[in-house]
Amino acid sequence: MKEQILQWLKQQDGYVSGQALCEHFGVSRTAVWKQIQALKKDGYVIDSVSNKGYKLISSPDALFGEEVLPRLHTAWAGRHYYYYAQTDSTNIRAKQLAEEGAPHGSLVVAEKQTAGRGRRGRTWVIPEGESITMSLLLKPEMELINASMLTLVAAMAIADAVRRALGDAATCYIKWPNDIVVNGKKICGILTEMTTEADYINSIVIGIGLNVNTTTFDPAVRDVATSLRLETGRCYSRSQLIADVMEAFEHYYDIFMQTQDLSALTDAYNAMLINCGRQVRVIEQDGEHIVTARSVTRTGGLLVENADGTEREIISGEVSVRGVLGYV
Ligand code: BTN
Repeated sequence: MKEQILQWLKQQDGYVSGQALCEHFGVSRTAVWKQIQALKKDGYVIDSVSNKGYKLISSPDALFGEEVLPRLHTAWAGRHYYYYAQTDSTNIRAKQLAEEGAPHGSLVVAEKQTAGRGRRGRTWVIPEGESITMSLLLKPEMELINASMLTLVAAMAIADAVRRALGDAATCYIKWPNDIVVNGKKICGILTEMTTEADYINSIVIGIGLNVNTTTFDPAVRDVATSLRLETGRCYSRSQLIADVMEAFEHYYDIFMQTQDLSALTDAYNAMLINCGRQVRVIEQDGEHIVTARSVTRTGGLLVENADGTEREIISGEVSVRGVLGYV
């Protein structure tokens, strides 16, 4: 009932009488009052005036379903929404929910993670209330070998949503394969994990950590990390960003699934690829090589030009790519 009262208050310009709420929901005045108190505890500012009733003054920048779902314009991405004030890791939760039968497109969002995970065994630690930590659960019918490309599809969706939020203030790029960067610093990381049985994909979880209104970072990443707020001085609606990422992801995913590769998306990806035409350091098992990055391939590799002019494709997971002088 709390959600319905909130929706009702959101639809009204003026005050809604307690009596009207009681009659509409068929409950007592005390029951309505209790739900109003619960909403206030969630951060909603509600004015209560005797003889006039209740008026919603402002909503918190919260990630509850009530804030995100009304902004969502998707057919399936994010439609099954799981919110946690605190969890260990949204990737872990999403994998558990997948086993319990959560459907394709379920989205797990947490305000705080106690065991947030990054790539290569690193941790993902970020102050609560300022960023987005979420995991999208997919249950695609696809060849195992194609699944890693979904990380690149997610990167495109996030870059799109971040570009939309930034407007003219700055622009956002993808550092191959899937880091999202603004002004040369990382604004978002993606950790994709897959559960398989023999060669059958049970589920794929795309974990996204997007720095939105974050102003302080762990000393270990301070020099290479940024947030939308740090780059523009503005605060952003996290619920709108989640909805925008879901919308863009659904768009790119549906295109991707037609061929199960990036052939229809390489132009769009390359247009967002910060490494395009730049010299990069490729860190390989046999050492480091300086090459020029050219473009993404239809299977998600990076086509690079060696110093002798020959070209080769490097595969994500096998190498690391850095800028010649720093992160990009
Ligand atoms: C990276 O190292 O760049 C990837 C970071 C991914 C962090 C996100 S936050 C939501 C999801 N849950 C996790 O535990 N990790 C991912």
